[in-house]
Amino acid sequence: MSLSALQKARYLYVPKLPPALRGDVHQVAVTLGESTESVANQSELKVLFPHTYGAPVASVGAGKNPHSAQKLTLAVVLSGGQAPGGHNVIAGLYDGLKKGNPASRLLGALGGPKGLIDGRFVEITDNFMNDFRNTGGFDMIGSGRDKIETVEDLGKVEAVCRQQSIDGVVVIGGDDSNTNAAVLAEYFRKAGAPVNVVGCPKTIDGDLKNEYIETSFGFDTAAKTYSELIGNIGRDANSAKKYWHFIKLMGRSASHITLECGLQTQPNLTLIGEEVAAKKLTLDQLIEQVATVISKRAEKGFNFGVVLIPEGLIEFIPEVGSLIAQLSDVLAHDHDGEQSFEKLEGLGAQISWLEKNLTKDNANVLKSLPSEIQRQLFLDRDSHGNVQVSLIETEKLVIEMTKRKLKDWESKGKYAGKFSALSHFFGYEGRCAFPSNFDADYCYSLGFNAFVLFSAGLTGYLSSVKNTHKPADQWTCGGVPITMMMNLEQRHGKPKPVIKKALVELKGKPFQTLAKHRDSWAIETAYLFPGAIQYYGPSEVCDQPTKTLLLEKS
Ligand code: FBP
Repeated sequence: MSLSALQKARYLYVPKLPPALRGDVHQVAVTLGESTESVANQSELKVLFPHTYGAPVASVGAGKNPHSAQKLTLAVVLSGGQAPGGHNVIAGLYDGLKKGNPASRLLGALGGPKGLIDGRFVEITDNFMNDFRNTGGFDMIGSGRDKIETVEDLGKVEAVCRQQSIDGVVVIGGDDSNTNAAVLAEYFRKAGAPVNVVGCPKTIDGDLKNEYIETSFGFDTAAKTYSELIGNIGRDANSAKKYWHFIKLMGRSASHITLECGLQTQPNLTLIGEEVAAKKLTLDQLIEQVATVISKRAEKGFNFGVVLIPEGLIEFIPEVGSLIAQLSDVLAHDHDGEQSFEKLEGLGAQISWLEKNLTKDNANVLKSLPSEIQRQLFLDRDSHGNVQVSLIETEKLVIEMTKRKLKDWESKGKYAGKFSALSHFFGYEGRCAFPSNFDADYCYSLGFNAFVLFSAGLTGYLSSVKNTHKPADQWTCGGVPITMMMNLEQRHGKPKPVIKKALVELKGKPFQTLAKHRDSWAIETAYLFPGAIQYYGPSEVCDQPTKTLLLEKS
């Protein structure tokens, strides 16, 4: 394998560990606090998780751990979308495990949860591990979006663990994957299987966070990668002075990435889905806001700009959300034989069919959308018939509808600028970047700390590293019972226990900071240019956490 200069250099990077994890691993102990309750639906969750509910919060610090040297076999699983730093979680776990007892073994489940279900593993060795230290991607063992939920799959995992003498499973994943980790921990306890489960909080989306999990790993690197690109585009826009750039950013439902990128780059408009929902904005009102900024800048002679759009925006617009929900339902239950939607040819026929099957309001919203977006709503559906919102080109929808609005204003003498728009979508560009120093350090610490939680015999916990807005020598470590973060949510019409997702908090400091400055950023050209992630150099350039984290903790 030929290596870039940076890759060779990153192999030599030594992640910074919190004080609690430095030094002799046999002198690191876990202290347990009071028993806990879930964030909501306590009585229901107590019944659903009788063996693991209410476990105490754990803190990690200096002390004697009688089990630190026990020989263990652990399995590690990467679950869901890639996030920078996953390899360092494995590295921290591996190093902790081997320091505890060099004869301990770490097995990597191949291809994500399915690898665990099917018992497909690779044993992680020094040489194998060293090829992936401080690198991005999940290619070391692969990932997948399968879930371990059914009794059959849980039984298969139990059989695999018993057969391979696996003492513990580390799930590296987001809210859904760690909900699965809690289910697995409960299942093992109930079955009397001697297997513990610990999770590590992963997702670029940044929506797995709470009092104990300050940030999910990968958010820092992904947001910085997108911010570099947005800054470059801002500078290009200000140089050429002829294009409006509409940039959609990944992040699923939550707008954390878009908010962070907005704070890092100060574009003219940063749309936040959660605000659109709270204000119950119609699509037309939203487009009016965009067109107003464009028009005001045009009055100053600025026929260029940058607009950030979160991937999940469309679902947050109440009328579009309602259309999507009914459309998913109608198309999923389309069993009309010869009269079926699937058999219709041409957009006109499809729209007429839907006019008869949708409510009047939903049909009107559908008809107001550009034809390309209508087509995407019909075509891109998942195996359950649901519209795949993330595949809809919201950035093009906003451009198209803004164009219409400006044309209308032009005809009424309300606007006299030039509007030439370009669309971009940044998502995959950031998911496998070399982890920033923050993510490299944070992930290594999460993995090492996960080993400590195992050595203390804990199960159903998420590895937690806190105080992360400060330098690593002030970070603290512990474990949070996963049931503590859970509530019941309606999924496919049934209540389901899940980790509560964190959406953008409109009263929180990150959003309030954006709200305070956005009027001037809209009209002025106040772009910031964060540049590429720096791995070597002064700490204020290389080790800064995200603005979101700094503002939330200040
Ligand atoms: P996770 O929630 O699994 O971390 O994935 C995050 C994400 O990158 C979202 O931002 C995005 O919507 C989704 O994955 C895309 O997934 P895929 O590449 O599987 O289509």
